[in-house]
Amino acid sequence: MATTRKTTNNQTTNKTDYLSYPQFNVEVIVSQEAKKSPHLIKFLLASKEEGKTLLETYPWFSAKASETVTAARTWYIGMGKSEDLDSLRLGEVLLKALRQAATNFEEIGVELPNAVFSQFGAKSVANLISTAIAGAVYPLDLMKTKPSQNEVKLKKVNIQVSRTYQDKFSTALEAYKKEVQPVLGMRQLQVLPGNIAYAETVERRARDIAKEFGLKITVMGQAELEKLGAGGILAVNQGSAREPRMIVLEYSPAGAKKTLGLIGKGVTFDTGGISIKPSSGMHEMKSDMSGSAAVLHAIAGIAAQKTKVRVIAAVGMVENMPDGKAQKPGDVYPSLKGHTVEVQNTDAEGRLVLADLLTYVEREHSPDLIVDIATLTGASVVALGHHYAGLFALNDESARYLEKASQNSHEPLWRLPVDRVYREMLKSEIADYNNIGERWGGASSAAAFLSAFLDHPEKWAHVDIAGIGILSKDLGVYPSQGSGFGVRLFCELARVLEA
Ligand code: BES
Ligand code: ZN
Ligand code: ZN
Repeated sequence: MATTRKTTNNQTTNKTDYLSYPQFNVEVIVSQEAKKSPHLIKFLLASKEEGKTLLETYPWFSAKASETVTAARTWYIGMGKSEDLDSLRLGEVLLKALRQAATNFEEIGVELPNAVFSQFGAKSVANLISTAIAGAVYPLDLMKTKPSQNEVKLKKVNIQVSRTYQDKFSTALEAYKKEVQPVLGMRQLQVLPGNIAYAETVERRARDIAKEFGLKITVMGQAELEKLGAGGILAVNQGSAREPRMIVLEYSPAGAKKTLGLIGKGVTFDTGGISIKPSSGMHEMKSDMSGSAAVLHAIAGIAAQKTKVRVIAAVGMVENMPDGKAQKPGDVYPSLKGHTVEVQNTDAEGRLVLADLLTYVEREHSPDLIVDIATLTGASVVALGHHYAGLFALNDESARYLEKASQNSHEPLWRLPVDRVYREMLKSEIADYNNIGERWGGASSAAAFLSAFLDHPEKWAHVDIAGIGILSKDLGVYPSQGSGFGVRLFCELARVLEA
């Protein structure tokens, strides 16, 4: 890889290399001949009978989850018992095995038990296997001089599918293959550090996507945001040496009946600002732009699949830094909606950015459903761990759209409350709102804050991915670090709205 390295400033490396959109170069096909592939990865469920031998040649093999026998031409991979096999376990087994296979073989066959197709449905298996292959071939140590990417050999995957499921599986696989590159693109941006992925460089990715799919793109910088009156975005970015950006992509296919607004938090680094975070673990806040990466890449996936829904993807790219010019605790700013906000904690910055974006997209595009996604609160991680994204909605129908999309995509959501009591926590003595609520219930008071910046909060849902967006170890089909959560969810959401 040709990189330019200078040590005289903080922009030390050739950013374009690290930021070039990852290409997915694995051919994935359904084949009746899969069993004849040079190497076969054969997945097996554990027997219901205790102690029954599954493989005569390897009598000790009991097919516990991810238990592996690497015979010469065939790898046998256990999936555990069928009653324990949920989509999280299935994803985990697939990812582990495929990751190992990816560095060993150029071409593999994959054989799954028919019972897995009947349990999950052909569509879900296609979803999970395509995502697992993508995760397996795209390690995230992009900036090493010898990235482990170089060790990935896998070029072709032949999947064995019985006749019963073949048509459904093939159709689904073709669709899901279009989500693979966006998922990788999102994961790449999530892990790239703040000195490489920042407002202006993320803009480049947005422009690439706009160009590839013929989307309309609007980009606003400091001057335009001042003219617009996006007080929240500007307040957060005030301490940064870099310019902020608001980026809006529009996909308007012929025949679309509904409009979906997707809003993403793009804090390219969150120090906490003057309410500065403790230093241990602070580096993880390079991924505080995960929401923005999700919506920019989701619109790419939706456009690639030609789903008949109009989609507006809007992101606010900022950096939350302490500085002589930074906002201070207690400062009051006017939001785009016109509400005045007292910033009692500068670390509760994501909501200031999202609030302006919600107001803007509602005002300009009147979406039928408007969904924001953000690494918004540590409190949501306390509530849900890394296993679920928090879902918040005032209206049950809006929540149901997301829950349906979650079921179809296997991206897990769990609904948490966002009613009047949380909004009432946001009182300020001197302004319309305080940007923080009480000590407890922080995920819900953050959500309640957002709801105050919409004329139609009933059309809104909020997804908090502070936990599931940023991982310290693999989780199901998600590889550790940048999980890519959100792209598949929103691609399904668009399909739910299309119907
Ligand atoms: N970006 C953080 C939330 C976060 C925490 C994301 C952990 C990923 C992992 C957010 O801006 C933040 O700092 N929120 C504060 C809000 C508080 C000051 C009300 C938090 O959660 O502590
Ligand atoms: Zn913060
Ligand atoms: Zn943040």
